Amino acid sequence: MKAKRRLKVLAVDDEPGILHAIQRVLRRDFDVVLSASPLSALEVLRDQEIAVMLVDQRMPEMTGVELLRKAREIRPEAVRILITGYSDIDATIQAINEGQVFYYIQKPWEPEELRLIVRRAGEHFQLKKDNDRLVEELKQANERLRRENILLHREMEAEYAFDQIIGKSSAMQQVFHLLKKVIPTDVTVLITGETGTGKELIARAIHFNGPRKQKMFVSQNCASLPETLLESELFGHVKGAFTGATRDKKGLFEIADGGTIFLDEIGETSPEFQKRLLRVLQEGEIHPVGSEKTIHIDVRIISATNRDLTRAVAEGKFREDLFYRLNVFPIHLPPLRERREDILELAHHFVQKYALKMGKSIAGISESALQLLQEYDYPGNVRQLENIIERAVVLADEGMEVTPELIDLPGSAGTAARLGETVSGKNPGLKKRVEELERYCIEQALQRHRGNISRAARELGLSRMGLHKKLQRYRVDLKRYKQS
Ligand SMILES: Nc1ncnc2c1ncn2[C@@H]1O[C@H](COP(=O)(O)OP(=O)(O)OP(=O)(O)O)[C@@H](O)[C@H]1O
Ligand SMILES: [Mg+2]
Repeated sequence: MKAKRRLKVLAVDDEPGILHAIQRVLRRDFDVVLSASPLSALEVLRDQEIAVMLVDQRMPEMTGVELLRKAREIRPEAVRILITGYSDIDATIQAINEGQVFYYIQKPWEPEELRLIVRRAGEHFQLKKDNDRLVEELKQANERLRRENILLHREMEAEYAFDQIIGKSSAMQQVFHLLKKVIPTDVTVLITGETGTGKELIARAIHFNGPRKQKMFVSQNCASLPETLLESELFGHVKGAFTGATRDKKGLFEIADGGTIFLDEIGETSPEFQKRLLRVLQEGEIHPVGSEKTIHIDVRIISATNRDLTRAVAEGKFREDLFYRLNVFPIHLPPLRERREDILELAHHFVQKYALKMGKSIAGISESALQLLQEYDYPGNVRQLENIIERAVVLADEGMEVTPELIDLPGSAGTAARLGETVSGKNPGLKKRVEELERYCIEQALQRHRGNISRAARELGLSRMGLHKKLQRYRVDLKRYKQS
């Protein structure tokens, strides 16, 4: 252990004999400073860091209590102890009541008693000092966090500012029009659209441009957790609610209080979960799992799905009452292939974004590369376009344009070759590679024909039966392609 600096004790008494007696008792544990008069004691106090003061009540010049009162102004952190005789009891009580002294010692004192009391006073001083330091550190850390938070918020606002959402197409203009209407309100929004169309981006834009932007935006993917975990994630739980619940946990609804919660892939939730969520929306309250407690919540709800929820309702897979609660204000994001006018601008936008991010200077994107991008169907929508551009920017030479060879569209010969190299594990056999490629071609055909089996089969040169068999074999989910 690091040797601790010894604390200083100041003893004040007009009788030198007593002062020396005190010194003998304390010098093992402390640096003892002696002072034969109150006035010289005040000098010492101004000059030295005194931890504990030990003061006799009866002195010429001023009483011990008066000295301690003055001492308190000079060095409030010093622990003050009064040594009194029996006849001084009234002054002592008054001093205690006024908070001038922490301890008092009656004469005649026993050395062991004095040592114990002063030791305790020293500990008290040290604790208070450590504590003050911690409080100060905490204050500073808090202030730092607050400032970082403000900066972060500004960054977020900039990131989700409208000019970062690209879309000149009339479909996207319509989306912007709806956004402007809905942002200032508290209305529940349901965002629909295929994967990668920008659902989460829009959800964040609603939050970070609206009146709740100073509060939290929390996002939960409802498909990524089993029902019970999802419930405790959203509503919280108390310690012991289930095995593994070793402490109380706040739910996201509570964390988002005053802000926005984004329930992604809401279409994938179980009937039991839908029932609970409905109750929460009806009552505006949550009950943490395993608790009787009711917590009132004020949260804006935005949900999203890439499923056709109307159909799910018709098929009995999604609760109709919940659907109406969530679908107060629907916003649909059309797939990119239905708004090809946006491809150009998006491509430019992403080239800039990634060039900046990678600190690379790129001279833009060539006409022929744009041409290529224009013609593609983008089953993965904007995200896919973004990934294609990101890759091209990585490959592009410093100062040069993005050219067609850098554009890697799935389905081209290059892709097939790469698929052969990289699928499923380190060293797949030929059979596996061929299967992977076959599956890939089937999915592409389904994508192109929106899940129409006859047309996809014709394109692939298969019978309907043959295609059905392959779908089963590769576990391709036809529904995914039919929705839009
Ligand atoms: N209009 C747009 N302008 C600029 N960037 C966009 C636009 N739409 C989507 N993006 C970008 O595309 C990527 C995918 O968007 P996002 O994650 O919001 O899609 P999603 O609909 O939530 O997809 P999924 O259903 O797969 O979760 C993000 O990086 C997002 O910033
Ligand atoms: Mg998403």
